[in-house]
Amino acid sequence: MSKYFQATASAPVNIACIKYWGKRDTKLILPTNSSLSVTLSQDHLRSTTTSRADPSFTEDTIWLNGKLDEIKPGGRLSTCIDAMRRAREEVEDADPKAEKFSQCKVHICSYNNFPTAAGLASSASGFAALVYSLAKLYQLPASPKDLSIIARQGSGSACRSLFGGFVAWREGTAPDGSDSFAEQVAPEIAWSDMHALICVVSDDKKGTSSTAGMQRTVETSTLFEQRKAVVPGRMRAITEAIHKRDFDQFAEITMKDSNSFHAVALDTDPPIFYLNDVSRAIIAIVTEYNRVSLDAGGKRKAAYTFDAGPNAVIYAPKENIKEIVEMIVEYFPQESFKDTFALFGKEDVRGRLVRGFNTGVAKRFEKGAVKTLIHTSVGDGPRVRGSEEGLLGENGLPK
Ligand code: DP6
Repeated sequence: MSKYFQATASAPVNIACIKYWGKRDTKLILPTNSSLSVTLSQDHLRSTTTSRADPSFTEDTIWLNGKLDEIKPGGRLSTCIDAMRRAREEVEDADPKAEKFSQCKVHICSYNNFPTAAGLASSASGFAALVYSLAKLYQLPASPKDLSIIARQGSGSACRSLFGGFVAWREGTAPDGSDSFAEQVAPEIAWSDMHALICVVSDDKKGTSSTAGMQRTVETSTLFEQRKAVVPGRMRAITEAIHKRDFDQFAEITMKDSNSFHAVALDTDPPIFYLNDVSRAIIAIVTEYNRVSLDAGGKRKAAYTFDAGPNAVIYAPKENIKEIVEMIVEYFPQESFKDTFALFGKEDVRGRLVRGFNTGVAKRFEKGAVKTLIHTSVGDGPRVRGSEEGLLGENGLPK
């Protein structure tokens, strides 16, 4: 057994409030607009990755959720691995005392604790964990911002998972992508009672991938020009809302931008539908919940947002979550709450609506329409994991 080098790291999921949708450079993954997301807690959703360099390995190899995956030359995985290896070479060239293992092949094993391709941004947490674990393996001096530029070339939204809290991806203008990076707008502790309720509508593989869908939008949607014009103002306004912890503003912008993204998807030729009847019912229910509050002179209490799939993410201040769960359960009865993400311990959760709620805004669905509810909150950036959490066995294969 040769001496090997290894690191394990985990990275969070992020869900955008201002959506990234469209590339101006498909190879470097440079976006047509800036975007902003909330990083979700790794206590509930995360990708964990172990990277090992060993002189006895003969090929770079990667396993995703236990399955061998191909590292295509020039593809997204090899772009990230090559960039990290080059950074290690620079460290070795600059310091004659540095251990020389940049030329060793690597084995990488990555695992998501949630269903892949369910619209839960698995590529974001996955590429962030890959890049972060390689940065630890190679003991690089790189900052999260530097790493975000590399993760971006794996999957655009991945660059935002290098930070915790509230994160912006600046579109940049440089043709080489050097100014298209992620940065933190506010840390998680600045607004820690920002919670999220994920309504898992479908855990099937989605129809049109983000990558293919957004390119079709860029090429065919006329509404897309209008979207590009409104996003900069929204970026400024939501940043201000976050700094002021103004949930009402945050919610209004988040819902508008989700709707705008799904409108340009529909305006694509051929049209792309990510929302289904369940998604639309959730939009109607959250809208009515906010209407009741606004009509009583109050403020918005919840914000929905949808990525490239039918799952809803509902952002809300912690104090409203129980009410929101009861409202969702009223329309989408649950089989049980006894899964990994138990909401309120053993406390009984039953369907209930706030006073004045117009029940007619949606029909009551059968059990299973919303399969699971995942209650989580804003969380921190990538974490180094102990060797006991390593995913590779002594033989260099997945455990
Ligand atoms: C709807 O980051 O998955 O989730 O860069 O082609 O890998 P690629 O696309 P990806 O797109 C995510 C799109 C989105 C919006 C967002 O996360 O901002």
